[in-house]
Amino acid sequence: MTELQLQELLSEMSLGEKIEQMIQFHGGFYGDVKLITGPGHDYSVKPDQQWRIGTVLGEAGYEHLKKLQEGFMEKQPHHIPAIFMSDVIHGYRTIYPVPLGQGASFDPELTRELAEATAKEASAAGLHVTFSPMCDLSRDARWGRCMEGTGEDPWLNARFAEAMVSGYQGDGIDKQGNIAACVKHFAAYGAATAGRDYSGVELCERTLLEDYLPSYEAAVKAGAPLVMSAFNTINRIPCSTNQWLMRKILRERMGFDGVVISDYGAVQETVVHTSSYDKKDAAAKALRAGLDIDMMSDCYLSYLEEQAKESEELRRLIDESCLRVLELKNRLGLFDDPVRGSKELEEKYFYCDAHKELSVRAARESAILLKNEGLLPLAKECRITVVGKLATSTKIVGSWAIFAESDKTVTFGEAVKCRYPEAKVEVYPYDTADEKMLAACKRSDAVIVCMGEEDEKSGESKSISDVSLCREHQMLFDAVYGVNEKILSLIYAGRPLAIPMLAEKSEAILDAWYPGTFGNIGIWELIFGDANPCGRVPMSFPYTTGQLPMSYSAFTTGRPVEDRNGFVPFASNYMDVPNTALYPFGWGLSYSTFEYSSVVLSHDTLTEDGKITATVTVTNKGTMDGKEPVQLYIRDVKGSVIRPCRELKGLQKPFVKAGETVTVSFDITTELLRFYNEDMEFVAEPGEFKVWIGGSSLTKNEAEFRLA
Ligand code: GLC
Repeated sequence: MTELQLQELLSEMSLGEKIEQMIQFHGGFYGDVKLITGPGHDYSVKPDQQWRIGTVLGEAGYEHLKKLQEGFMEKQPHHIPAIFMSDVIHGYRTIYPVPLGQGASFDPELTRELAEATAKEASAAGLHVTFSPMCDLSRDARWGRCMEGTGEDPWLNARFAEAMVSGYQGDGIDKQGNIAACVKHFAAYGAATAGRDYSGVELCERTLLEDYLPSYEAAVKAGAPLVMSAFNTINRIPCSTNQWLMRKILRERMGFDGVVISDYGAVQETVVHTSSYDKKDAAAKALRAGLDIDMMSDCYLSYLEEQAKESEELRRLIDESCLRVLELKNRLGLFDDPVRGSKELEEKYFYCDAHKELSVRAARESAILLKNEGLLPLAKECRITVVGKLATSTKIVGSWAIFAESDKTVTFGEAVKCRYPEAKVEVYPYDTADEKMLAACKRSDAVIVCMGEEDEKSGESKSISDVSLCREHQMLFDAVYGVNEKILSLIYAGRPLAIPMLAEKSEAILDAWYPGTFGNIGIWELIFGDANPCGRVPMSFPYTTGQLPMSYSAFTTGRPVEDRNGFVPFASNYMDVPNTALYPFGWGLSYSTFEYSSVVLSHDTLTEDGKITATVTVTNKGTMDGKEPVQLYIRDVKGSVIRPCRELKGLQKPFVKAGETVTVSFDITTELLRFYNEDMEFVAEPGEFKVWIGGSSLTKNEAEFRLA
């Protein structure tokens, strides 16, 4: 439809019909609900009104959605089709590593491929929109949803966010095989106080703008046509009714002109937050904040029309919001082709060989070898005992794998049988050591202890106050350690766990995150050395929960402690643990050693519109080919406000053959140096800068330059 035709359609709609387009219901209003992703709400709808609303949450499957859409086309007075939206955030049927695992790949291009493959399956199943990328930076592993983001770094999160949008949307959101992205949760949901989900967010504006917003902005700039408002507050105003955040920042500063949808029930929760007097007040405030779709609350549905009859301002805002929803439907091509997908496409793409291989590769490249004192890779003729319930659990795909089929998930124990049928592996899939298990461990060349948390222990609302390895797994490890110290600790988790005891006693530690449907095959390929680990820490592993929130990109404070060797009185440090992470951002081992040359800069002074090229050579000194995430960090030595000790500003992940040397270059421009100065202007200030290029945030491979 043309813009004019959309305007004509709008003019033919009644006020009530316009408001109905601004509603999202879950499938419960259509009989066989498949998925409820929030608390129950009991509110009444008029007869058949569910067929007149604009969008549906959480339903999928070609036949199912085709039937639903036929209902909308028949019963909506202007035959306006519905948009089908759901949370497909790391795969639809074929499940890939959770986003935090993808973050550990340090490979946004891989994530683009995963998003592209996800879109093929979701689109085949009739979906139009996915509630992804989740762009919430998180530095607190107590928050169960850190699993849904890509970690603690603003620059890296932005790269992953734009990669996901590009992968989902491909050559156009109206095309079969693509789905529209929805950027969430706007904004700074990952800064939940004390890591407890849904709690408030207390950030200064500079931290919000510099650390939390870049990933949302990157996704908006990449063309995502929807943004979801977060549950939390910013400046003590809930995001869904926060005009400064939703209009001034999102629409004016970021230039977003698409559809804003609330999170599940978030509009009516502003009443519970106590900043809306009642649902009528909440509806008016959300509308004034530019919120276009009220997901799973009845504020718009039941409390907007009456007050809008008395207010030209509200009627104008309703027209604007309804038109944005119609424009989205038009961009999705729904007026011409309301039904997406087909049975044939579902059969073609679900678990297809290409997606299965992608699932294996993604798991290989997102697992992190945190420690290895020579135990790995294991020889294929090794006698191996595997212990722990997680070894045969299918709960290793991560939450939000809502359309996964658990009988398709390949467990760790099954994966070795299908990939290495001749391997000598005994599996004792329980968490309590017994005589038989320990006898097997004792006679083995190596023991793999599967520890961590099943995937229902992380995700939405799954906050924990202590991220230590659970007592049961510590006891299991100790029992095995008592009979055989050749232990690989294999971690499944949706967050960085505090594992100082494993770090001390394990011969090797491999963190698999939640590797997905076929990912365990890739984990065994790493263990047996048919693949070279290349994952890196996307979110700091603390020694203890007490260090959280934490990040490598910290500030010096007025009393810094460099290389702490025991407690330093009257300085910024803990009495019981180091200030640093057990495993810091960017850390990870390979079976190869990569040697870096010194950093060479093309110039030692950068002018306002110039650039400096920073170059290193990287040599694979090992006997195995491998990939190396080469990281560029920059420090602004002095600023009109305090500046972090270092910030990631560049990343490349070259494949380097054994013995080969490659050259890696980064361009440094003033764009990379900007921050919000004392007057909140986004500027780069002249002065000294340090630059490092290396294999983790610990790199000391340093050079210096000046900004004139
Ligand atoms: C949930 C989540 C959000 C999800 C939405 C729809 O409450 O917060 O991430 O997209 O509801 O399922």
